[in-house]
Amino acid sequence: MKKLVLGTIAAAMLATSGLAAEYTLKFSHVVSPNTPKGKAADFFEKRLEELSGGKIDVQVYPSSQLYKDNAVLKALRLNSVQMAAPSFSKFGKIVPNLAIFDLPFLFKDIDHLHRVQDGEVGQALKDKVTAKGIVALDFWDNGFKQLSSSTKALIEPKDAEGQKFRIMSSKVLEAQFHAVNANPQMMPFSEVYSGLQQGVIDGQENTISNIYTKKFHEVQTDLTISNHGYLGYLVVMSKRFWKSLPADLQANVKQAMKEATAKERQFAQELNDSQLEKIKEYAKNTGKLKIHTLTDEQREAWRTKVSKIYPEFYSDRTIGEDLIKKTIATK
Ligand code: LMR
Repeated sequence: MKKLVLGTIAAAMLATSGLAAEYTLKFSHVVSPNTPKGKAADFFEKRLEELSGGKIDVQVYPSSQLYKDNAVLKALRLNSVQMAAPSFSKFGKIVPNLAIFDLPFLFKDIDHLHRVQDGEVGQALKDKVTAKGIVALDFWDNGFKQLSSSTKALIEPKDAEGQKFRIMSSKVLEAQFHAVNANPQMMPFSEVYSGLQQGVIDGQENTISNIYTKKFHEVQTDLTISNHGYLGYLVVMSKRFWKSLPADLQANVKQAMKEATAKERQFAQELNDSQLEKIKEYAKNTGKLKIHTLTDEQREAWRTKVSKIYPEFYSDRTIGEDLIKKTIATK
């Protein structure tokens, strides 16, 4: 607390003294500020500026203002942006193994997922990213994904047949929807709302916080609480920027990240819960949205169908059998 106050005072003194920060760190992301990632990025900004005594000026750009999700990793490698937290699918061309987190029904619950991220599998994945010249900082949560449609209730796997679903650029998600005879369409996050509104796609899958903050539920008729897959992020930094920092500022980055990650997990839980209540209120007040929750038996029917895709990703050039089996075995 004392440290926090001193840091705040130092940052304020630096700001009022008119001294410019020594480093500018641009953090680009695609979601709204009022999401787990958005709030954690803002927390990180405040905390790193405090800890560094104002030497690092952190600038957060939400809602694809700076880069769309398909462009940010290239920009990061060029040091045009210094930080990002793309979802795992978006690392497909660099480290395809991260798509392990896209495999449907792989994680028993959020605690199992955290044990995987904090353990051997998580470290192996971070090492693969580091080997590609990108600094891998930490995993951030969003949460489990839900299904929505503008034409029908998605209760049984056969309900998805022939429907056009927006997916992130992920071979796993493509296979997941093919497994239920649906038509997956890759699309950047920034185009999903208009895609749904104009009927270019029938439905989509995302977490409650992404659905609520981008108003996807307002252009859908049915929302199914399926918790069938997970959405999360790897927070990454430009290697050139990292190497330009002296050791004390690198330590400040690590500390601010550690605190932001702890907060982020809390935000993810709280926002997905509270925003589901808001969507329920919207459904009740407008009568324009039906919300369905899968029973255990219905979930099992989806799990049986879509988990058949796992062996398609046993090659190390995709995800790797070893990583998948270690994840399943993680206690
Ligand atoms: C998506 O494209 O649906 C998500 O990756 C967006 C995000 O960053 O949460």
